[in-house]
Amino acid sequence: MVHQPMISTDTMKAAVRDRYVDFSEIEIRNIPIPDIKEDEVLVKIHASTINRTGCALVNAKPFIMRFFIGFMKPKRLVLGTDFSGEVVKVGKSVDQYKVGDRVMGFRDEGLSTHAEYTAVSINQGMVHMPSNLNFIEAAACQEATHYAYNWIKDKKMDSTKTVLINGATGGIGTAITQFVSASGAQVTAVGNGKNIELLRKLGAHKIFNYEEENFLECDLRYDYIFDAVGKSTYGKCKHLLKAHGIYISSELGPWIQNPILALYTAKRKGKKVEFPLPSNIIESLHYVKHQVEEGRYKPVIEKVYYSFDEIGQAYQYVSEGMKTGNVVMAHVK
Ligand SMILES: NC(=O)c1ccc[n+]([C@@H]2O[C@H](COP(=O)([O-])OP(=O)(O)OC[C@H]3O[C@@H](n4cnc5c(N)ncnc54)[C@H](OP(=O)(O)O)[C@@H]3O)[C@@H](O)[C@H]2O)c1
Repeated sequence: MVHQPMISTDTMKAAVRDRYVDFSEIEIRNIPIPDIKEDEVLVKIHASTINRTGCALVNAKPFIMRFFIGFMKPKRLVLGTDFSGEVVKVGKSVDQYKVGDRVMGFRDEGLSTHAEYTAVSINQGMVHMPSNLNFIEAAACQEATHYAYNWIKDKKMDSTKTVLINGATGGIGTAITQFVSASGAQVTAVGNGKNIELLRKLGAHKIFNYEEENFLECDLRYDYIFDAVGKSTYGKCKHLLKAHGIYISSELGPWIQNPILALYTAKRKGKKVEFPLPSNIIESLHYVKHQVEEGRYKPVIEKVYYSFDEIGQAYQYVSEGMKTGNVVMAHVK
């Protein structure tokens, strides 16, 4: 049965672009509220993040993104990759969700969530929200946590492990710092001076303020080095790894060497580079939901924007790579 929507008009506000543009060229338009298919729900969006993945949907940088999001022009008109919100309509074949459910979801190729409503297939990345989060917090629990979880999901983490996290103050960095600390592993975090106290609260045991110290001179040796800002290289960090240590970076590397090194070191004994390709968003969302409900993860939120008119400014800020944790666009307080 299709439930009646609680929708007063047929149009909605959305942040759009017809072609790949600069952040200042994002437009706010009134467009039709999407229809839903049998396996979809219509979600009234309460919050979504402006994130690094979403920046690539605006300007198709790096170029490789065009293979996923539309080569000549974007496949999706509306921007946004994640959401938290409320189900207002369900398709005929949907039985896991009902009108009024609080849900959150993410899709790295875009989910048209910088709008008042979006249609989401239940086969895409969506789960019920953790009961102990508000909509703003739930929105900030997805994009960065998905990548952070994909880095650690097949790693044995316990109190015997030593882990260094570079860029620990970012979206991915704050998530991975909490996930790894919760496992009992000894965490060294590298971040800026203003966030030393935050990094301590997230569970870091040793902290390098990169503005004053060089973590490459550290005398500890690590089982894992996670570079969540892409500003180091395996070559520079190799001496910090234990004999079977693993180096993982969020970036391809200055010479696109990280995927190549990952292939090269995979079959060799000793130190390795890994370049995980993030997959299975639903598994990531269930993991973070569980971590949140068990009190082991709380998203770090630096800024909340409340008006679509500020969206270009928000994207510009996020694209500069200096945010602390997450930046949210909210339609509720
Ligand atoms: N592989 C993938 O699928 C994938 C997906 C999403 C994102 N990414 C990449 O992953 C990286 C992290 O994404 P994110 O969303 O977490 O980014 P972010 O939130 O912008 O975080 C980057 C953090 O690094 C800090 N930082 C800057 N320079 C640093 C330095 N020299 N040493 C240590 N920390 C430094 C920044 O703060 P300050 O400048 O204030 O210090 C900021 O807190 C980005 O490079 C992004 O492009 C990869």
